[in-house]
Amino acid sequence: MVRFDGVGLRYDAPGGRSAWGLLGLSFALAPGEFAWLLGPSGAGKSTLLRLMQLSLRATEGRVELLGEDVSRLRRHALPALRRRIGVVFQDDRLLPHLSARENVALPLRIQGVTEARVAADVEEMLRWVGLDHRGEDPPDILSGGERQRLAIARAIVARPALLVADEPTANLDEAQARRVIALLRELHRMGTTVVVATHSETLPAAYPARALLLESGRLVADEAAGA
Ligand SMILES: Nc1ncnc2c1ncn2[C@@H]1O[C@H](COP(=O)(O)OP(=O)(O)OP(=O)(O)O)[C@@H](O)[C@H]1O
Ligand SMILES: [Mg+2]
Repeated sequence: MVRFDGVGLRYDAPGGRSAWGLLGLSFALAPGEFAWLLGPSGAGKSTLLRLMQLSLRATEGRVELLGEDVSRLRRHALPALRRRIGVVFQDDRLLPHLSARENVALPLRIQGVTEARVAADVEEMLRWVGLDHRGEDPPDILSGGERQRLAIARAIVARPALLVADEPTANLDEAQARRVIALLRELHRMGTTVVVATHSETLPAAYPARALLLESGRLVADEAAGA
């Protein structure tokens, strides 16, 4: 499903300098796996997730996503692969001028799904994240937890095979954070591969799963659930 072999990512820095964001990274995720991505600030968590969502391409090594060797994929083939990968950001990136319902509908509209199916799928998603009564509301009158659940609905409405979430609970209180993680765990139980980066120590303890630990751009531990 996901395989990294000796992956490195060098960022260009001002003045012609460059710095390694990731170095010598090798691991694999099986289809349907749930993994935490842990490590201190600056360790490379967001960089790794950007490689998994195809917003960055590795400068070294080989990245395989959903059975495709990304390093060999032509540029025009990237959007189709990207559509099979859902993304949830720390700052939900919802569109403020659209209603909750229209935000969730957007990925389906972009794919040209029929309006009848858009309506049915969006309602199902809003129900699943507990926001079916807020469909008409714009995102900025929702609470932080509600916004993040809406962002999850938008990320998965097109039924991606892989979902990556970068600190989706960073701005939430404990109860809302647990609710968001419970949704991601349920998604995993339904068969989606899920990777969640977090600073939290309590959430991985509450929801034991495989944990990839990054430090200074390197993978320093890869522990199975309960290890
Ligand atoms: N666009 C960029 N240009 C240059 N260097 C970058 C860029 N983005 C990140 N870096 C560097 O790459 C390293 C890893 O950053 P990254 O954002 O992946 O860390 P992180 O683990 O997500 O940190 P945090 O927990 O604070 O979000 C850091 O040293 C950072 O300064
Ligand atoms: Mg980050």
